[in-house]
Amino acid sequence: MHSLARGKPMVLPPTWRLWVGMLFVVVSEQRCIFDEVQAQAKVVQAAPTELRLLQAMNRVGRMASAERRMKLGKPALSTLASPQPIRIRLWIVKESGNLSGNEKERMEAVVEEAVRVVSSLLSVNRVKGPLLLSRDINKYCKFLWKNSSTANYNRCGRANSNYRTETCLDVTIPDDHLDGCDIYMSADSPQRTELRPKGSGLPDTDFLLYLHIQSTDKCRAEPGVLAYAAHCRTDAQGRPLAGVVVICRDRLTGATYKRQAAVQTVIHELFHVLGFSKELFHTWRDCSSTSQADGSGCSHRGKVTHADQSGQMRIFTPSVISALQKHLGSTDPELGGPLENLDAPLGRVSSHWESRVLQGSIMTAVLGDSTTVRIDPVTLAALQDTGWYIVDLSRAQSLVWGDGEGGTFGSLSTCQNKSTFFCSGSGFGCHFLHLHKGACQTDQYLEGCRVYKPFKNGVSFISFNVTVKIMPTKVGVF
Ligand SMILES: *[C@@H]1O[C@H](CO)[C@@H](O)[C@H](O)[C@H]1NC(C)=O
Ligand SMILES: *[C@@H]1O[C@H](CO)[C@@H](O)[C@H](O)[C@H]1NC(C)=O
Ligand SMILES: *[C@@H]1O[C@H](CO)[C@@H](O)[C@H](O)[C@H]1NC(C)=O
Ligand SMILES: *[C@@H]1O[C@H](CO)[C@@H](O)[C@H](O)[C@H]1NC(C)=O
Repeated sequence: MHSLARGKPMVLPPTWRLWVGMLFVVVSEQRCIFDEVQAQAKVVQAAPTELRLLQAMNRVGRMASAERRMKLGKPALSTLASPQPIRIRLWIVKESGNLSGNEKERMEAVVEEAVRVVSSLLSVNRVKGPLLLSRDINKYCKFLWKNSSTANYNRCGRANSNYRTETCLDVTIPDDHLDGCDIYMSADSPQRTELRPKGSGLPDTDFLLYLHIQSTDKCRAEPGVLAYAAHCRTDAQGRPLAGVVVICRDRLTGATYKRQAAVQTVIHELFHVLGFSKELFHTWRDCSSTSQADGSGCSHRGKVTHADQSGQMRIFTPSVISALQKHLGSTDPELGGPLENLDAPLGRVSSHWESRVLQGSIMTAVLGDSTTVRIDPVTLAALQDTGWYIVDLSRAQSLVWGDGEGGTFGSLSTCQNKSTFFCSGSGFGCHFLHLHKGACQTDQYLEGCRVYKPFKNGVSFISFNVTVKIMPTKVGVF
C-alpha cells in the first residue's frame, strides 16, 4: 500500500481499480433520532398554580425593587432576576458503571466540555432554591376533583395504588429529585394526606441532565446512532428543566471515539432538550414586549412553523429570520429557518435544520466531519427565540456554507446550478471548506442536490487512474 502511495503516475489494472473504489467510503455520518425518541417520552409541566404563585412573588419582588430604585434613584433595571449562565447539573445514571475507569473519565470530560460550551452561550432566570421536579399527576392519581368551583379543583382525590416511580425516558428519577404529592379526601376540604414526601432537590441547578452511557436497543438498531435524548420536565413557563441524554456505549467509547465529534454530539443533544425540538416549538415565548428581565411578561408565540410557497416547513421567529437574512445576504422578510423535511411527514416538522441550506450547522440531522461543524448564528437565534434564554449571539461560529448566496440558496430549483457549494455530475473536487478532497455526491437529505463529500480519513487522490495517494490520518479538531 505504501509503496503504491509513493508511486509514480501509473495505470491501475482493473482489480486495483475495484480495490481503490471500495476505499472511497464517505466519512461515516451519524443520523439523529431525537424526534423518534422524544415522541416516546412523557413530558410533565409544572402545575399552573405554581406559575400564579411565581408571578405573584415576582410582582411583589418587582414592586419592592421598584421602590428601592426610586429611593436610590437608580436606572430602571430589574434587580430581582437578571439572567445568569445556565447551571446544568449532570447526574450520571448508575447502570452506566460498566465502563473502564478510563472510558468513564473520558466520557465525563466530553459531557462536561459540552455543558461548559452551552452554559457559556445561554443564560436563564435562575431557579431559586433547590430544583425539584414535579411528579406526574396522571401517574400517581387515580381520580382528580373536577368541579371548578371547588377548592381542590384539579387536585388528586384518590391515589393510584400501582404508582411506584417517575421516569425520564428510561431513567428512573431518584425520589430525592422529586417534589412531594398529596391526596385530598374531599372536594372542598384542605385536609390532605401525604402520598410521597418532598425530596431535598438539587441546589444551584437550572437544568438537570441525566446521563446514561449504555448500549441500548436503539443504539443497536441503527449503526449511525451515537447518542439520543429527550426532555421530560418543564417549568410552568414551558422551559425544560430536566432531560436525559443516552450515549451509545460502543460508539462513543470504543475505538471509533473522536473527542471533538463526541463533544459536538452532546451539544447537539443538549440543544434539542433545551428547546430546539418540534415538541417545544409551539411553546416558545415572545418576550420582546416586556422589559422585565425575569420573563414574567412574556406571551406565547403560538404556532411558529409554517410551509413556504414551495412546501418547505420553516420557523418564522424574528431572530431566526434576521440571522438567516444576514447569513444569506437577503432582505426577504419571509426567510424563516428551513427545517429538514426528510424525517417528517408532509406538512409536519422535524427538529433539524434543512441540510441543503444550513450544511455544517450543529443542528442538521446528520453531523459531518467535526472540522466542518459550527455552532452557527441561526441555531443560536432559534434558542434566543424560545424566550427562555438570553443567548450570547456574539459567540456564534460563522457558517461558510451559503454565505451571501441569497434567499433561494439551497432550494431544489437552484441547487442544480453549478456554484461554489453545489456540484453536478459525479466528478471529484474540493469540499467547500477546502480541507478535504471529495466526490460529487448526493444523499437522502440533499434530495438530488449534489455536493463534494470528503473521502474517508486519509484516502485521497487526484485522478482515478493516475495517482493514488494515502495521506496521514487527520483527526478533526477546531
Ligand atoms: C459489561 O460489559 C461487558 C463487555 O464489555 C458485557 O459483556 C457485559 O454484559 C456488560 N455488563 C452489563 C451489566 O452491562
Ligand atoms: C360544584 O361545586 C359547587 C360548590 O360546592 C356546587 O354548588 C355545584 O353543584 C357543583 N357542581 C357539580 C356539577 O357538581
Ligand atoms: C439556476 O437554474 C435555474 C433553472 O435551471 C435558472 O432558471 C436560474 O436562472 C439559474 N440561476 C442562476 C443564478 O444561475
Ligand atoms: C483515465 O485515463 C484515460 C487515459 O489516460 C483518460 O482518458 C481518462 O479521462 C482517465 N479517467 C479519469 C477518470 O480520470
